[in-house]
Amino acid sequence: VVDIAPLYKHSGMFTYDPGFTSTASCESQITYIDGDEGVLLYRGYPIEQLAEHGDFLETCYLLLYGELPTPAQKADFDYRVGRHTMVHEQMARFFQGFRRDAHPMSVMVASVGALSAFYHDSTDISDPHQRMISSMRLIAKMPTLAAMAYKYTIGQPFVYPQNNLDYPSNFLRMCFSVPCEEYKPNPILARALDRIFILHADHEQNASTSTVRLAGSSGANPFACIAAGIACLWGPAHGGANEAALKMLQEIGTVDRIPAYIAKAKDKNDPFRLMGFGHRVYKNYDPRAKIMQRTTHEVLNELGHKDDPLLEVALELERIALHDEYFIEKKLYPNIDFYSGITLKAMGFPTSMFTVLFALARTVGWIAQWKEMIEDPSQKIGRPRQLYTGATRRDYVSPAQRR
Ligand code: ACO
Repeated sequence: VVDIAPLYKHSGMFTYDPGFTSTASCESQITYIDGDEGVLLYRGYPIEQLAEHGDFLETCYLLLYGELPTPAQKADFDYRVGRHTMVHEQMARFFQGFRRDAHPMSVMVASVGALSAFYHDSTDISDPHQRMISSMRLIAKMPTLAAMAYKYTIGQPFVYPQNNLDYPSNFLRMCFSVPCEEYKPNPILARALDRIFILHADHEQNASTSTVRLAGSSGANPFACIAAGIACLWGPAHGGANEAALKMLQEIGTVDRIPAYIAKAKDKNDPFRLMGFGHRVYKNYDPRAKIMQRTTHEVLNELGHKDDPLLEVALELERIALHDEYFIEKKLYPNIDFYSGITLKAMGFPTSMFTVLFALARTVGWIAQWKEMIEDPSQKIGRPRQLYTGATRRDYVSPAQRR
């Protein structure tokens, strides 16, 4: 046992909190979560009301500026986002350097980071005007880059943005239209996608948002910070869970196999967990999961898939789990990822794009949190301490004397 106390003699009090389960890293006025009650508010507005009545760009405005826009402000904001959807033509050539089978998330990390090489003006973070322009650029270009990442992996030509379309319709068109065929975005699917974007727009200090803040605390430019957030989101314990939930539902396959999976999830000696169940903060029904479940029904009805066996399995799995002592006692409820995979798959997105869509929607939350941090005079560079448990001081041993 090494006595480490002398190493900390000049350091004052330390807290040791792996996973930051009870340590606040910042003050924030953006998003409020009450995990026990299942409440999520953006700038004070319940997520249910925003998802029901608003659209994604309105949510973006709210997260960035703190208030809902007036009609004139909204029209101006939509126009400004629309003006920034194009990416530099060199960017298309940049894409050609990737292997065709590159995971679209790896392409997103690289291409968003590369935006700083195209917009030198936006790297001046001391200028509030430049900060706002880079926010617009990121919100506007994420759908374009995400669609390019998708098209590239399937070997189809890129589709340029068409800015007289609304944000989700423009994205659907860039993903799914092909040359020589007329493509009309389905308004019900566009509305559903828009709602999915609203649900994912922010979630306070989760791992990727904390990554963006930490990267930004050194003064790094916003494109680099968002690229760091995308890299963090890619992990299966974070943004990758919707893909895992879909795979699990496919593996279960039929409702008669559900009890065996519930038993596996409850078995202490089995590492298996029900994917899309449980949440670090929500110890009640994730409010986003309720809206997502409704959205799933709408999308499947619209596409004529209302008897999708995956939905049947999901609904029955949820019903059984919500009545099971184990899940009740541990407060495990469906989270947003439980239904989102079924919905995105039905819309035609491959599983490799699920986390990309999450990143697209979360970009506004990241950028709002980054801006809030930059504009907070009390913020310092993020520099966590550690509890050192290695060797105490010892002298160098020459190679010949090492045993
Ligand atoms: N299935 C079965 N048991 C579970 C599950 C689950 N999905 N989730 C948690 N438990 C059990 C754990 O085994 C543990 O049991 P124990 O007390 O007997 O040891 C207890 O519930 C608490 O679990 P923790 O892992 O300590 O809870 P934590 O808050 O750290 O984890 C997490 C939350 C990671 C989301 C977890 O519930 C999980 O792994 N869920 C499945 C993956 C998933 O859906 N992730 C998406 C999260 S939402 C998002 O990122 C957008």
